Order: sequence, then structure tokens, then C-alpha cells
Amino acid sequence: MNEFKPGLEGVVAIETEIAEPDREGGSLRYRGVDIEEIVGRYHYEQVWGLLVDDDLDSVMPDPEPYEPAVLTGNAPSDLQSETARLSGVWKLGKLNEISDEQARDDLGRLSAQMMAIVARSARVADGHDVDVPDEVVAHGATAAEKFLLRWRGEADPRAAKAIDTYWICTAEHGINASTFTARIVASAGADCGAALSSAVGALSGPLHGGAPAYVIPMLDEVAAMGDPERWVSDTLDAGKRIMGFGHRIYRKEDPRSRLLKQTAIDLGAPRVEVAVELERAALKALAERHPERELPTNVEFFSAVVLDVADVPPELAPAMFACSRVAGWSAHILEQKKTGRLFRPSARYIGPQTRSLSELGGAPVPS
Ligand code: COA
Repeated sequence: MNEFKPGLEGVVAIETEIAEPDREGGSLRYRGVDIEEIVGRYHYEQVWGLLVDDDLDSVMPDPEPYEPAVLTGNAPSDLQSETARLSGVWKLGKLNEISDEQARDDLGRLSAQMMAIVARSARVADGHDVDVPDEVVAHGATAAEKFLLRWRGEADPRAAKAIDTYWICTAEHGINASTFTARIVASAGADCGAALSSAVGALSGPLHGGAPAYVIPMLDEVAAMGDPERWVSDTLDAGKRIMGFGHRIYRKEDPRSRLLKQTAIDLGAPRVEVAVELERAALKALAERHPERELPTNVEFFSAVVLDVADVPPELAPAMFACSRVAGWSAHILEQKKTGRLFRPSARYIGPQTRSLSELGGAPVPS
């Protein structure tokens, strides 16, 4: 197969048993279980167990004591560098030299620690220079509560519910830039810290993990104007896109959007009314202007509204996404390890024909 596919679109690069985004049916299943069945009945740390071990009882562990080298308050950068550093601090073994059980343990330790690092980085960004004591964090019953306690020293139940639901809905979504990155690094036999920190690097790009950051300012613009229909037509007439609509996979409906919208309504999210009005106006206008294709609400739109319940600042959104994806990434790293197959795609050379260095001009460095 020598056909070149820009961006590898449509190329089947892996076989997976982890998650199945159902394009036509508008549903998402983790290990065969519809996420509609999971949300509200299980917590994120159990979903981690489902994705990684196919076992809801195999929960993500609590983080062990660890002293980060430097936290800058830029959460994606802190997360990427500290996760890479953990490979050295914990002397993690190379994936091609350790057992599957050892890799699973490494991924559990790393996942738990990565969430703690994001919480601590967010605390630094808030201007604190003293950590919340572990005894206070230990009062949290769930990973989301512990995250909030480590970040702010308190865990409002609505905020914890919002974060838990968001993490569950975005824990895994098949192959994409960051998950593919994690698998490529794992396929080379690197350790789990290297694979996870590389995935964080991919996710820190705004095209992958950052769209919720644009939604809140957009909702504020709509609220200030007070006329969602006019805001939508002005935006589309100006040739701009409405953030949070359209999806490469789901043509009918993004199931995560449906669940997060209900969560936003149930929790009385601060901007939920304007979000629902904007969604109605946007879906109507997009259907009129693009009758040839469905442009449904995507996960980013109501993710932003739900995270707003916990007062998550837009700049923290990519790191919150990374927290949820530690489950999916870990599951994929383990699955990749089991294949034992190195990724080695091909490139078609389209550069200059063979030529002499003298054709380039420029004087050589005198010897
Ligand atoms: N607002 C307005 N118009 C949109 C749109 C949006 N959110 N999404 C797609 N369109 C229009 C495009 O302008 C294009 O119109 P044209 O054919 O007249 O040029 C048409 O629909 C197809 O766009 P395309 O980019 O090919 O669709 P896609 O399905 O490949 O793209 C997205 C999917 C997500 C990249 C795209 O819908 C988008 O940019 N959405 C906004 C950003 C966003 O929400 N990102 C988070 C994704 S989870």
C-alpha cells in the first residue's frame, strides 16, 4: 500500500479492544460498555480500571509521596516535564524489558501522580507556594475530590461531580494525536513515563486539547449581545467557525456532549442557559447553511460549561483533559506493549533530485 494519506486520515494503524466510538449510532463504548451506563454509577478511578484492566474493581491507586523539581504554574508544561522526570526518579524499566504486570503497576503509579502534579501546578498558578497537607487530601473520597483538595484545600461536591463526569466522558476515544504518540513511543520500548509525557506534549497543542478554552469567552460574547441568533449569523457571515460544533467522527450526535449537557443542567452550571440557547441557534443555522452534512455539538462545548461549575480557568482546560486521558493512554500503552511491534511507517521522498553540493553555492569553511 503506497498511497499517501495526509494526516493519516482513514488509515487503520492499530487494532484495539479498548474503546469504540460508534460513528453512526452516536454512542461511545469503553470495553463494550456504553458510557451512558457508566456516568452517575461509577467514579473516574474505577473507569481507569475498566479501561486499563477491563475490571471496574481494579481502581487507579492514590499517588505516593513525591516532590516535583519545579512547578511553574503552566500545567501542561509542568505535567510533561515532571512525568518525564519520574522515569528517572523511580528508575522505571523499559517496556520491552519488563513484564506486563510491571508495566501496569508503573502506569498506575504514574497516572495517580500525574493528576496530583496538575492539581499542584494549578495551586501554584493560583499564587500559593505551600502544598495542601496530605492528611487534608486524604479526606477526599474520590479522585476528583482529592484533586480539588490538593488544588484548593476544599472540595465542593458540585465541583467534584462536574470534574468526575468530565473525566469519565473524556477518558478515552480511540486513536488520535496524543494516543497515537503514546503508542509510538511505547512501540519503541521506551518506559511508561516517556510514553505518557510524550502524549502530554501532543495534547498541549490547541488543535487537540484546547478548544474548551474558546467556549467560555464565546458564551460571554453571546450573553453580552443578548441575541444568540444574531451572534450566530454574524459569526457565520464573517466566515468564522462556531467553537464546539462539528466532529470528524460523529455525524449524528456526540454522545459525550449529550451526557455533559445533562450534567450541566443537573448541576445548574453558571452559563448553562446561554449555552443551551446558543446551541439551539447554532444547530439551526448550521443545518440551514450545510444541509449536506450534520454539524452536531461536540464534546468541547458542554465540557467547557461543566468545568465552569468547578471554576476551572480556561487555561487549565488542556491539563484537565490530560488528567482524564491518563486512563486511555495507559490502556493503549499496555495494549501496544502486548503487540511487541515497532511503528515504522514510510515516507515518499519529494525533495530535489540528486545534485552536487557545488550547485548550492556558498563558500566552504576554510580548513
Ligand atoms: N462552525 C461553522 N461552520 C463549520 C463548523 C463550525 N463549527 N464546522 C464545520 N463547518 C463548515 C465548514 O466551514 C465547511 O464549510 P464549507 O464546505 O462551506 O467550507 C464544512 O462545514 C465542512 O468543514 P470541515 O472542516 O471539512 O468539517 P470536518 O467534519 O472535517 O471538521 C471540525 C470537523 C471539528 C474540525 C470542524 O467542525 C470545526 O472546525 N469545528 C469547530 C472547532 C471545534 O469545535 N473543535 C473541537 C473539535 S472536538
